[in-house]
Amino acid sequence: MRTLSHPLFLLPLLFSVLLIFPNGGAAASRKPPLSGAYEPIQDPEDAHIQALAKYAVRQHKKESGESLVLNRVLGGQQQVVAGMNYRLVIGAAGWSGVEELYLAVVYEKPWKTFRNLTVFEPIV
Ligand SMILES: *[C@@H]1O[C@H](CO)[C@@H](O)[C@H](O)[C@H]1NC(C)=O
Repeated sequence: MRTLSHPLFLLPLLFSVLLIFPNGGAAASRKPPLSGAYEPIQDPEDAHIQALAKYAVRQHKKESGESLVLNRVLGGQQQVVAGMNYRLVIGAAGWSGVEELYLAVVYEKPWKTFRNLTVFEPIV
């Protein structure tokens, strides 16, 4: 993984992750409500997508105690439910400063006053 840090090399990885985890990688009990199909996120740099990734890293710290620094969002998919599911591939670094990749799924209600981190797991 360390030797394949150029973003272009990560694209096949990204797509395989999204294939390997068609339900967001969640255990059945953590699966968010389903309805529409997942669509690609066109602009991972979008301020709202960035805010969701920051929320995921912050919430992951609250839930697990693991402190990570968000580096970037590599890509993702979104799904209309009663609200929206966002499935993001993010790069974040722990105490060592070395970037690792994570899959984060954030559920957000339509009026955006409610968010929940339903999946946060390392991509190995
Ligand atoms: C957030 O998601 C988790 C996992 O799906 C779930 O167990 C929990 O009840 C949710 N929290 C709220 C406030 O909906």
